[in-house]
Parts: sequence; structure tokens; C-alpha cells
Amino acid sequence: ELAADGELVCHSDFAPWLKPRPRNSHKGSFGSVGVLGGSKSMVGAALLAGRAALKLGSGRVYLGLLDPDAPAVDAGQPELMFRRAETLLQTDLQALACGPGLGNSGEAVRLLEQALKCPLPIVLDADALNILATDGRLEGNLYNRVAPVILTPHPTEAARLLGCATREVQADRITAARELARRYACHIALKGCGTVIAAVDGRWWLNSTGNPGLATAGTGDVLTGLIAALLAQGWPAEQALLAGVHLHGAAADHLVAHGIGPIGLTAGEIIDAARQVFNGW
Ligand code: APR
Ligand code: MG
Repeated sequence: ELAADGELVCHSDFAPWLKPRPRNSHKGSFGSVGVLGGSKSMVGAALLAGRAALKLGSGRVYLGLLDPDAPAVDAGQPELMFRRAETLLQTDLQALACGPGLGNSGEAVRLLEQALKCPLPIVLDADALNILATDGRLEGNLYNRVAPVILTPHPTEAARLLGCATREVQADRITAARELARRYACHIALKGCGTVIAAVDGRWWLNSTGNPGLATAGTGDVLTGLIAALLAQGWPAEQALLAGVHLHGAAADHLVAHGIGPIGLTAGEIIDAARQVFNGW
């Protein structure tokens, strides 16, 4: 059953996928997420995405960091498993998140190209989008894929992908999101105040949750991890995207309602709030 489009994202758009955990479930029941990113000086972005994926219920989360000097453990989240970036894709994974802190080195481009050849649902964010926008060779890898691709650009990343100015994207966000979905054959979340979601087939939605507390570093990386967690748990891409965006904003609204933010709200706090809100859905 398809959600009605041209409307606000609402709980009923993805409610059929909110299932209680069977008593006999085990970590293999909830999939493994791989996060590709974290080059030098940007490791935190990948950690945020990984922590978000873990706390939204994926059975296992693996980080493939590009920074050779990155620590081998996340001291604040020791459940995360670390792999060298070039071996991450050999791990048994059910979903990929590529881009947080990825950088634009030759190695980053090569790894992204490999990731796009994997038959796994994939979320591309941040530098993965910047690479896609600048390296014309990669675009072709999107069209013949069997597994879905989700792009989560902020307005400037969207402008790079469309080859236009950020103000043109912002002047008609719905058209921009739908044009991205058509051109790249992907599901799109055009982020910002009132995130616009566009499906490959032209349908679109507007998200009403969220607030300016989210205007702080790393909240986009958290969204990437939340969506990847739902993909790894077997959600279809469209519902994972609608639920992930709605939840991300609802988590921020929950924190503000409890006096945490909007001023000084941090990306890490969104992760815990998202877990709490999700368990109540
Ligand atoms: N109202 C509602 N939501 C908002 C608002 C607002 N006023 N401001 C921001 N948000 C939400 C966006 O919709 C998005 O989900 O916060 C998130 C911000 O994501 P990004 O713009 O990707 O920010 P960030 O996490 O800091 O990105 C990390 O990746 O995209 C690159 O250049 C970026 O280097 C940076 C890195
Ligand atoms: Mg970002």
C-alpha cells in the first residue's frame, strides 16, 4: 500500500513496518550496517552515523574509516566494530551508509565506486554526494542497480548535484527534490527546514517535524545512520526514508519539549531521543 503523496509525512505512511520484536529474535534478525567514511579530521561524522544506526536497532554496526590513524574503538560506544575501509565491503552487511566524513581523496572515490557496485540498499550523504556531483563516471553506477539508493543532500549539496545555485534549489524545493530523484534514479531527502522527500517514481512528501535545534554540526550524519538502520532491518527504502526523516525531527521536538534545546542541542542527543521516540511509536 502506497502512502499518499503531495502531503505531510505522517506516522501512517510507515506504521505497517513498526513491528514488535519476536521473542526468539537474535542480533542476526536485525541486520548489519556498514558505515563508510571518517577520513582524517572527520572521524566524528562516521561515529555519529554508526552510533545512530546502533541505537535505532541494527543488530551489528561496522565502521570502515579512511583515516589510518583513527582509533580502533569508539570509547563512547564500544559496541561498534571497526574495519579497515577497504575490507568493510567484504563484511556480511544488509545496508550501507556512505559519506559522513568521507572526504574527496582518490581512495574515497574508489571506495565509493566499489560500494555502489554492492547489491545492498545504500544511503549516500555528505562527501559521497559531493563526489557524485563532481565525478561523472559514478553516476552510471546508479542506473543499473537492483538495490535502492537514498540521497540525503542539504541544499548546497543538492545544488552541486543539479549544477545550479543553492538559491535556485531553495526557491522551489519540491521541484528540486523531484528533479534529483528523476535524474539520479534515487530516493531523495532534500534537507533543511521542511525536508522534502521525493521517490524515484515522482511522488513527494513534506516533513513537518524538527526545529532549529537541528542546525548544528553532525545532525545530518545522525539522520544517515537512522535511515541505514531501518534499511538493514528490512524496511523498504521509501518507508525507511519517510520514517527516518520524521523520527529525526520528532526526536529534536521531543528534546525541545523537555527543555533540551533548541539552543545548544547536540547531534549525539538526537540519537538517544530518536531511540526513545521510536520505541514509543
Ligand atoms: N529546521 C528543521 N530541521 C533542520 C533545521 C531547521 N531549521 N536546520 C537543520 N535541520 C536538519 C536538516 O533537515 C538535516 O536533517 O538538520 C540536519 C542537518 O544536516 P546537514 O546539513 O547535513 O548538517 P551536518 O550534519 O552538519 O553535516 C555534516 O556533512 O553535509 C555535510 O557540509 C556538511 O560537512 C558537513 C557534514
Ligand atoms: Mg551533512
